[in-house]
Amino acid sequence: MAVRKIKKDVYAVGAIDWDRTLFDEIIPLPDGTSYNSYVVFGSEKTALIDTVDPEKEEELFENLKELNVKRIDYIVSNHAEQDHSGAIPKVLEAFPMAKVVTNEKCKGFEKDLLLIDDEKFITIKDGDTLSLGNKTLKFVFTPWVHWPETMSTYLVEDKIMFTGDFFGSHIASSDLFVKNEAKAVEDAKRYYAEIMMPFRMPIRSNLKKIEEYDIDFIAPTHGQVYDKPQLILNAYKEWVSENVKNKVVIPYVSMHGSTRKIVDHLTSALIQRGVEVRPYNVITADIGEVAMSLVDAATIVVASPTVLVGLHPTAAYVLSFINAIRPKVKFGTFIGSYGWAGQCVNQAKSLTSNLKVEMLEPVLVKGYPKAEDFKSLDDLAEKILKKHENCEYVK
Ligand code: FEO
Repeated sequence: MAVRKIKKDVYAVGAIDWDRTLFDEIIPLPDGTSYNSYVVFGSEKTALIDTVDPEKEEELFENLKELNVKRIDYIVSNHAEQDHSGAIPKVLEAFPMAKVVTNEKCKGFEKDLLLIDDEKFITIKDGDTLSLGNKTLKFVFTPWVHWPETMSTYLVEDKIMFTGDFFGSHIASSDLFVKNEAKAVEDAKRYYAEIMMPFRMPIRSNLKKIEEYDIDFIAPTHGQVYDKPQLILNAYKEWVSENVKNKVVIPYVSMHGSTRKIVDHLTSALIQRGVEVRPYNVITADIGEVAMSLVDAATIVVASPTVLVGLHPTAAYVLSFINAIRPKVKFGTFIGSYGWAGQCVNQAKSLTSNLKVEMLEPVLVKGYPKAEDFKSLDDLAEKILKKHENCEYVK
């Protein structure tokens, strides 16, 4: 990646990963990703803010060479996860005078994960500042976005907030700054859904904290830099609020067509009633799309055939994933088919204990759906509509 300038003496020196297709061995990356690292040259000291994934450390070093960086005094580490901290040991090797500047929790993680010696650290507290001469770094603790140690670093004179994963997006782009705002928000929404959504409450307080600062740029560790910070701040405010849409998400699996017919009927019944609906065949769907759709859906309806008395294993896997990302859905239910007996509803409930939903009556169909089953699905669609109409959070 070419070195790119944010402001005078502040440069992006990270790596673009055009080819990465999967993160954490679970999250699809349709547009690759980036590991953003930034150099700040002060009149007396030079700081490197976060590093890159170890697989891309060569690119980081090429960029430092291109910028003619002869000395790094501080490696500020906003987050200990290895896609940002993994190259710290190599940077310490290349710049032995450098110290890792971070909080106590992050230091603990990096000692465990990267085997960095204790004496290499300078430990800072929330609100502490560090002078680089004519530039000042101020540390703003923003925990649980998405690990307990996460923090942001504010470059006071240039009004740049380096936020780590917070406000990030998995996008590989040659543009440093956001150009296509709608696409940027969509990319950030996918990232939020997969990584940040379980932490809606801490994010709310972190947003308030961040907004106390006069910010010209938000520079996260993945994706593009926001030169209009309000774009992403407003998007996050909406995502972490209680507001949902008149919308139903239906993750489903069907083996022989019965469940598919049930899903199709409910989908049509919801459309007829003016409810936005999105069914996902989870055998082929991008799980990130399902997660994004759940960011602002009022209702989730899970659909599965019965396999060996329980859910289809893929449906069970998707439910475990949804339970982990904790969408703010308000209503939920189960629909599906069975042959002779089944425990799908109980299994679905036990797999989604994190979801604070009002359960609606499930629709279970023996074999292929018949007239009375279609009637039950129409009733369910009507019930969902009424629930949405009477819910204060549906906007
Ligand atoms: Fe991008 Fe939590 O690491």
